Amino acid sequence: MSLIDPFGRKINYLRLSVTDRCNMRCRYCMPEAGIEKLQPREILSYEDLYRIAQVAVEQGIEKIRVTGGEPLVRKGIVDFLTRLGQLPGLKELVLTTNGQMLAEMATSLRAAGVRRVNVSLDSLDPETFVGITRWGDLRRVVAGLMAADRVGLGIKINMVVMRGINDHEIDEFASLTVNREVTVRFIEYMPSLKEPNWRARVVSGDEIIHRLSARYALEAIDSAERAGPAREYRINGALGKLGVITAVSGHFCNNCNRVRVTATGMARSCLFADNGVDLRPLLAGDGNVALARGIRRVVIDKPSRHHLDDEQAEYRAFAMAAIGG
Ligand code: 5AD
Ligand code: SF4
Repeated sequence: MSLIDPFGRKINYLRLSVTDRCNMRCRYCMPEAGIEKLQPREILSYEDLYRIAQVAVEQGIEKIRVTGGEPLVRKGIVDFLTRLGQLPGLKELVLTTNGQMLAEMATSLRAAGVRRVNVSLDSLDPETFVGITRWGDLRRVVAGLMAADRVGLGIKINMVVMRGINDHEIDEFASLTVNREVTVRFIEYMPSLKEPNWRARVVSGDEIIHRLSARYALEAIDSAERAGPAREYRINGALGKLGVITAVSGHFCNNCNRVRVTATGMARSCLFADNGVDLRPLLAGDGNVALARGIRRVVIDKPSRHHLDDEQAEYRAFAMAAIGG
């Protein structure tokens, strides 16, 4: 089966959040005090998350990314990933992590069937890193990346680029791809918390590529079908790849292939739309018919694009940790 939305986009990618908790406090994601924590009973059990994943795959999802908050802080995550990894029909299981616990967990993640990790890393300078993440420790991320590499996990590094904060480091991040088989993705900073004056912080994907082109010879590469909205490049002769995720400037939306499910079971088709479908009531009973219908409903309701380019556009502020990025 496949999931095609009303705009002809094939939806084959599910981002599944397993917790809203996090051991960092990135300024663009959460206030320092954190967000109002969900009660344990509000969080879906692994059993329910598994059922959602299973039905989503039956409906046409081919790739699942487990996200948070920080997914590695939830107890039992390795067993859950092991089960997901064996889901018939699932072609790709990946994980997004902030890397704080990756060094300890890399071996078991690999054994669980995770093929690749996306590690959020916004600065290579310890002070800037703490300035952005508040509670993060850069050394732990670096140790995590080395461990991931050692055990054969593929690595993508996600850098959220913010003008005046870390945009002077884009060349250095790009240079990481020269001698390593890693992908570095530059993500346009999104106004999820609705900070005043957020537009001044955004460095557009076009500007990032323009700036990198001044330093490196870049060749564009065709993205694989499941790569989704990233535009990808390679520095001439480099082992790794570069990508930009133009989440804000929005060419992104045309190729958006994703839906999200939060740790509370709210399915959402767009970060900047409030029309979620609550899957929790659909989990009652043994059959999966209602659940399947709920997942199809999210896809049917997927908006064509967000409207961040419209100054008047309305959306509710949100903590990315509550949705899973
Ligand atoms: N803008 C862009 N990216 C964000 N992320 C979290 N909040 C934002 C934001 N406001 C990123 C994290 C992580 C991914 C899950 O989402 O850095 O890489
Ligand atoms: Fe945690 Fe990721 Fe949010 Fe940072 S961006 S606080 S690592 S959930």
